[in-house]
Amino acid sequence: MEKAKKIWMDGKLVNWEDANVHILTHTLHYGFGVFEGTRCYKTVDGPAIFRLDDHLKRLYNSAQILTIDIPVGFKEMAKASKEIIKANHYQECYLRHIAFIGDGEMGLGTMTNPVRTAIISWKWGAYLGEEGLKKGIRLKTSSYARLPVQSFPCKAKAVGNYVNSILAKREALKAGYDEAVMLDSSGYVAEASGENIFLVFGDTIITPPESSSILNGITRKSVIELAKDLGYQVKEETFPRDTIYIADEVFLTGTAAEVTPVREVDNRKIGKGSAGDATLKIQAEFFKIVLGKNPKYKKWLTYVD
Ligand SMILES: Cc1ncc(COP(=O)(O)O)c(C=O)c1O
Repeated sequence: MEKAKKIWMDGKLVNWEDANVHILTHTLHYGFGVFEGTRCYKTVDGPAIFRLDDHLKRLYNSAQILTIDIPVGFKEMAKASKEIIKANHYQECYLRHIAFIGDGEMGLGTMTNPVRTAIISWKWGAYLGEEGLKKGIRLKTSSYARLPVQSFPCKAKAVGNYVNSILAKREALKAGYDEAVMLDSSGYVAEASGENIFLVFGDTIITPPESSSILNGITRKSVIELAKDLGYQVKEETFPRDTIYIADEVFLTGTAAEVTPVREVDNRKIGKGSAGDATLKIQAEFFKIVLGKNPKYKKWLTYVD
């Protein structure tokens, strides 16, 4: 990773090398913390953060779900999100917001440790590879079920939830795939380790509903809206893994992965075995929007300057 000059930490800009924590940081031991991943794009009118308010709303909602009281207000966090990009002179970057429990007392029940916050920015290209973005990736159904809603807060982007995602991701990578798709505890398709999933059948697009054990992806929400604009019918419904195998096209959405086509699932070619036409059309529209080239969706951009 290319180091940036500054990191915003607990209200101050500090040098990258100085953004350190104590080994007794509570979240490091128990995974109790919340975070966000957001992108800033080099738009035609200068750097702009995509759906910053929605990402911050999800951050504060995640904290509410976990009963973490973030000591920095929403407005200050939004201002700091722009400040860190300016401080690092980025035109485009990834932003990681995190709120975590610092050191002090140990044990699961401690309530007195400080809640600490940071915003880190770095250059992050195509998460699933440039080639994946163009030609499509290979997916493997995970042997790990997605977080059961009875046990995990799946509407929170909670640090500890990602043990489940990383187990699935590592299993897929070790088996020679690019990404894992996870089923819920009843066997229905939920989402990929860090992305939401969409299937295309002609002019109809389906994706698991918000009520399933998925993160309510902001890219997912954006793609549903823009796909409707493009004339597709979008349905949120549950489906078993076999439905993926017979789809005309499959794609994943996420802040890091953007709109990534899927060309193969569990050794079955999807459609032609390459990125599908509808997927590429939606992907092109998505990039137009994030780059500020679609006036209708400028409302989703927060300009840094
Ligand atoms: C588990 C999971 N699902 C879905 C997503 C996609 O969400 P978004 O589009 O808001 O980045 C992410 C990434 O944040 C994720 O970690």
